[in-house]
Amino acid sequence: MTSNKDLKIASLLALVLFITGITCYAAFPPPAPEEPVRLMFQNAAGKVLFTHAVHNQEYDLSCLDCHHNIEDDEVYSCKECHQATSDDESMPSKTDAFHAQCIGCHKEKGAGPVECNSCHAL
Ligand code: HEC
Ligand code: HEC
Ligand code: HEC
Ligand code: HEC
Repeated sequence: MTSNKDLKIASLLALVLFITGITCYAAFPPPAPEEPVRLMFQNAAGKVLFTHAVHNQEYDLSCLDCHHNIEDDEVYSCKECHQATSDDESMPSKTDAFHAQCIGCHKEKGAGPVECNSCHAL
């Protein structure tokens, strides 16, 4: 038999659990996606090693310096937008996007490789 009192206790308990749940969710947001330590790009011109974590932590850069597209719905992969080929001048192809960003920053900072074979080394 379920009495009126039992029902009240049950709904009160449900409410308390609900509020606890919301509070915990807000207090502990899901962790940011883990960033790669290093990436090895395999391509026709020779492998390129990219020290992602070192770039990020030791060269004093922020995610947005490279992941220029990040908004609420996080996208970290360049190739999701930069296709293998592109006819649109304002939208560089994948290779052009990589070259422009990697070499562009190295030139700007006067640090980091700009010669073909100092990146395509392996
Ligand atoms: C110096 C440039 C640079 C910085 C700074 C940087 N990233 Fe990246 N990141 C890259 C590149 C380039 C890739 C490879 C993307 C690809 O393969 O299309 C990458 C890949 C990733 C990936 C894997 C994506 C996938 O789908 O494989 C994640 C996650 C990521 N970055 C997160 C971060 C976060 C978080 C930060 C800041 C804390 C950050 N990155 C800072 C350049 C950078
Ligand atoms: C969500 C889609 C998206 C992703 C992911 C993305 N881009 Fe772009 N990118 C664009 C668009 C759109 C443009 C052209 C308009 C503009 O400049 O914002 C562009 C332009 C560029 C340009 C030329 C203009 C400039 O800002 O100098 C470079 C270089 C570039 N992207 C590099 C990258 C690299 C490297 C990555 C990965 C680390 C990346 N993009 C990830 C959408 C994206
Ligand atoms: C926003 C700036 C920035 C971008 C973008 C960037 N780099 Fe660098 N990179 C640096 C700086 C600064 C150094 C040199 C640090 C030093 O010598 O003290 C460096 C050094 C390097 C080095 C030699 C040292 C090491 O850590 O391996 C390589 C190789 C390199 N970068 C590859 C890349 C590649 C490949 C990309 C594109 C996927 C890239 N970088 C994008 C800033 C950048
Ligand atoms: C700062 C580092 C860096 C320098 C300097 C550099 N590249 Fe690259 N290159 C890359 C990266 C990163 C990619 C993208 C790799 C991928 O997406 O697999 C790439 C891609 C390429 C590709 C495309 C290969 C394929 O499979 O589609 C060619 C070709 C290429 N580079 C040639 C060159 C030439 C020629 C030079 C000198 C004029 C040069 N690169 C200088 C980093 C560099």
